[in-house]
Amino acid sequence: MTQQDRDITIETLPEDYAQYDLSFKMIVIGDSGVGKSCLTTKAVKNTFEEFYQATIGFEFLTFNLKMNDTVVKLQIWDTCGQEVYRSLISNFYRNSSLAVLLYAIDNRESFINAENWLKELKGQASPDVKIMIVGNKCDLEDERKVSFDEGKEFKEKNHLDFFMETSAKTGFNVKNFLIEAAEILYKDYLVNKNSYDKDMDSIDNVKVKNTDNISIKKKRCC
Ligand code: GTP
Repeated sequence: MTQQDRDITIETLPEDYAQYDLSFKMIVIGDSGVGKSCLTTKAVKNTFEEFYQATIGFEFLTFNLKMNDTVVKLQIWDTCGQEVYRSLISNFYRNSSLAVLLYAIDNRESFINAENWLKELKGQASPDVKIMIVGNKCDLEDERKVSFDEGKEFKEKNHLDFFMETSAKTGFNVKNFLIEAAEILYKDYLVNKNSYDKDMDSIDNVKVKNTDNISIKKKRCC
């Protein structure tokens, strides 16, 4: 979606931007090697690593943006896809407001396994978790094993919130996948503002939802 098509204005902010109004936790899951680390790192730091190094446990990144006048901070948990660490990841499911389920378009098995990831996520996450399905490595068109339409059908069949394809290598849609995530969460907050506020506890001027998946912080003066 382009800026002209949106009904809210969006401005991306530096990674170390300290002040925020709303903060959401999101988790990136999917098979090993689909590009979870590359995609999140490219979106946040604009770097790309050709050499594959498996994530151990998880990595943490932040992405800040202004939506209308509200500063939104995404806390991104990039998880490891290896089976051996699966029990570690499940701790993050229930604390996430949004999950990005990633597969690689040149790897059919990673798309088939998306069904299992979804089942596991739905079994452990909060019932109102938002879910995006993303097909990465779309620069590998000649090696494509999953069509764009199959990704779209997966989204529709499972009533997910968004589908898109990305390439961490070329940079295609890399910032957009985080912008879409933030927009889904921000709009949900606007619609359900009263129930969000009701559920929150206030600690030292920081409001924290008791499910621990969103916090609202008052802007401090500099
Ligand atoms: P785990 O940490 O094991 O869960 O893997 P991961 O999903 O984090 O994958 P990672 O980001 O480490 O990428 C795996 C390999 O795919 C690396 O060699 C990357 O260079 C490559 N890769 C990642 N994204 C892309 C992409 O968009 N296009 C291409 N061609 N290669 C990519």
